Amino acid sequence: MQNYKHDVSPDWGLATQMVHGGLTRSQHAETAEAIYMTSGYVYASAEEAQAAVDNSKPRFVYGRFGNPTVAMFEERMALLEGAPVARATATGMAAVTAVLLAGLKTGDHVVSASALFGSCRYVLENVLPRFGIACSFVEGSDLTAWQDAMRPETRLLFVETPSNPTLAIVDIAAVAKIAESRGARLIVDNAFASPALQRPMEFGAHIVVHSSTKFIDGQGRALGGMILCRQDFLDENLNLFLRNTGPTLSPFNAWLHLKSLETLELRMKQHCENAGRVAEFLGKQKNVTRVLYPFHPDHPQHNLAKAQMDGGGGVVAFEVAGGKASAFKLSNALQLIDISNNLGDAKSLLTHPETTTHKKMTPQARAAAGVTSGLLRLSVGLEDTDDLCEDLEQALKVA
Ligand SMILES: Cc1ncc(COP(=O)(O)O)c(C=O)c1O
Repeated sequence: MQNYKHDVSPDWGLATQMVHGGLTRSQHAETAEAIYMTSGYVYASAEEAQAAVDNSKPRFVYGRFGNPTVAMFEERMALLEGAPVARATATGMAAVTAVLLAGLKTGDHVVSASALFGSCRYVLENVLPRFGIACSFVEGSDLTAWQDAMRPETRLLFVETPSNPTLAIVDIAAVAKIAESRGARLIVDNAFASPALQRPMEFGAHIVVHSSTKFIDGQGRALGGMILCRQDFLDENLNLFLRNTGPTLSPFNAWLHLKSLETLELRMKQHCENAGRVAEFLGKQKNVTRVLYPFHPDHPQHNLAKAQMDGGGGVVAFEVAGGKASAFKLSNALQLIDISNNLGDAKSLLTHPETTTHKKMTPQARAAAGVTSGLLRLSVGLEDTDDLCEDLEQALKVA
C-alpha cells in the first residue's frame, strides 16, 4: 500500500508548519486531517497487547494516553514553538496545573510574576500550599526581585507574558537565565501571544503552556491546552502524571485547533493590526486615562515587547475615568462589541476583570496585578476597525 505519511521538514517556515506540520495521512489519503474519535484501540493478538502496554512496540494504547488526531495537534505545536515535545490537555488551566503538580513536590518553592490570570494565581496561591509547596510573587519586570526571591528549594518560575489582563511583559531571556543559574525551570504561559507572535523557547524558556481556547482556536468554539517542554521533563515528570490523572484533550477539539492553526498567522496579523488601531484611537479619548498595549509607545515595556514579540497581539487594556461605574456604563452602551469573559475570538469581546476574571483574587493581589476598578480588557476581533472605534466612541460618551 502507498504510504501517504507526510514528510515534515523542521526547516519549513512558520506559515508552512501551521498548514502541514504534524500531518499524518491514513490509508485513505485524505486531504484534511482525520478525526479519530475513538476511546481505545484493538490488537491482533494478546502478545501484541502485551507488547503495546510494555511499550516495546510503540503504538496507540488508550485514549487517555494518546490519539492520532491529538498527536497531529501536538506535533504541529511543537514545530511552531521550536519545542522538543508537546502534550495536549483539555483546557489551558489543565496545562498550567499539570505542569506545576508534575514538576513539584512537598518542600519545593515556586516564584511567579504577580501579573496573572485569576485561575493561575489560584492554583499557585491556594492549591500548591495544600501539598506543602510555597509560592512567592514578584513584580515581573524587576529582575532583582526575581533574584532575591530565589531559594535553594526553588524549582519552577512562572510568568504570563503578555499577562492577563494588563499586558505586562516579562524579559523571558533574563528570567530564564536566573532559573538556569539556580537549577530551576522557567514556565511561560504564551496564550496571549500564540506561537505566531512569540516563541519563548527561543529565549531560553524551559516549558511553555497554552490555553488553545484563545487565539489558537480563534473562533470561540472549543477549550484546549498545550504543554511544550524538553524530553527530560516529559520523561521524568510529565508523562506518567498525564497518563494517570487524565486531563486529556478530546480528539474533536484537537481537530478544531489543528485546523485553526492553518490560519493562525493570517488571523494574528489582522488581530495585531486591528488592536494597534484601536489602542491608538483609545489613547486619544479624553475619558480614557490609560491604554496598555505591548506595541503602543506608551507601554512601559514597549522596547522589550518589540524585542521578543513579532506583533503586539490582539488584546488592549484601557482604564476609564470614573472607575467601575463608568466601566459598566461603557460596557452596557456597546452595540457591536460583546461583553464576555473569553478572549481571542474573531468577535471583539470586552471584559471588566475586577468583577469577573479576577474577582476571586484578594484586593492586594488584584492591585499587584494592576487590575483597577476602571480597567477594561478588550479582545479586538477581526471586524472593520472603523466599526469598532465608532462603537467605542458612542459608548465612551455615556461612560
Ligand atoms: C493567560 C491565561 N492562561 C490560562 C488561561 C486558562 O485557559 P482555559 O480557559 O483554556 O483553561 C487563560 C484563560 O483566560 C489565560 O488568559
